Amino acid sequence: MTVRHFLTLLDLSGDELRTLIRRGIEIKQAMKSGQAYQPLQSRTLAMIFDKSSTRTRISFEVAMTQFGGNAIFLSPGSTQLGRGEPIEDTARVMSSMVDGVVIRTSSHAMVETFAAHSEIPVINGLTDRFHPCQLLADVQTVVELRGDIKGSRVAWVGDGNNMCHSWINAARQFQFELSIATPHQYRPDATVVDMAGDVVALTDDPEVAVRDVDIVVTDTWASMGQESEKERRTADFSPFRVDRRLMQKAKRDALFMHCLPAYRNHEVTAEVIDGPQSVVWAQAENRLHAQKALLEFLLLAPK
Ligand code: CP
Ligand code: NVA
Repeated sequence: MTVRHFLTLLDLSGDELRTLIRRGIEIKQAMKSGQAYQPLQSRTLAMIFDKSSTRTRISFEVAMTQFGGNAIFLSPGSTQLGRGEPIEDTARVMSSMVDGVVIRTSSHAMVETFAAHSEIPVINGLTDRFHPCQLLADVQTVVELRGDIKGSRVAWVGDGNNMCHSWINAARQFQFELSIATPHQYRPDATVVDMAGDVVALTDDPEVAVRDVDIVVTDTWASMGQESEKERRTADFSPFRVDRRLMQKAKRDALFMHCLPAYRNHEVTAEVIDGPQSVVWAQAENRLHAQKALLEFLLLAPK
């Protein structure tokens, strides 16, 4: 069997993704009831991160520890990648020693190149284009709270960034409607939007996007690598802040979601993110459980 990777949500079928979500919920419940489960004993996960991370790094490292395996954290500066060793050679060498690789870096093409030369599963831990692991946790959160995400109406408000692209892929795979409100010049990539077909709608009016939706989602206005644009982005995005007034246009029981890290009183007011509709802590916790299901799926797949 050829090795499976998880670079975007489109690498798995809709059925496989739904199975993963159910499995994440089962693994979480078993762990909370005190059952030990160590399916990855003597397995090793390498983690190449050249961007900051709190949740992704910790959740993968803890997942491997709790599963009885081991994770090796590698910053590029500490490996020969940082001195120009080809990605292809690195992938080949790592394939002979470890059982899986998580990569967090700017260039999605770099992760694709690595995967193309890897004999072990490669997981995208965030690129400038996609952040699929976050969506596993996010969908798990909605399924836990609402029973299903299929048929839901979701609004994305803010930047058409890597998280927005992954929500678009999720809308396609899990069959929900996604309305996206961004300033015109920050729209998501047209190729990603077009591939999703009619489940996605674009607007530049946040009130239109959130009207009667079940879920409102946002993210930082300045992603990692865009720090120098912060001032301009703050001005461009200020009409897109998720505040109480905007939340009131959604359904009364709408959920507020954010992948974190959040910047209070920029993309979301403190009142909303720290309020009763916010499920951001459940999303963060579910990174651990959802990624355990992913590791089990990829690392224990029949060879
Ligand atoms: N949401 C998320 O991926 O967080 P980190 O950047 O802390 O990993
Ligand atoms: N869009 C954000 C997500 C962080 C998890 C970034 O890329 O920095």
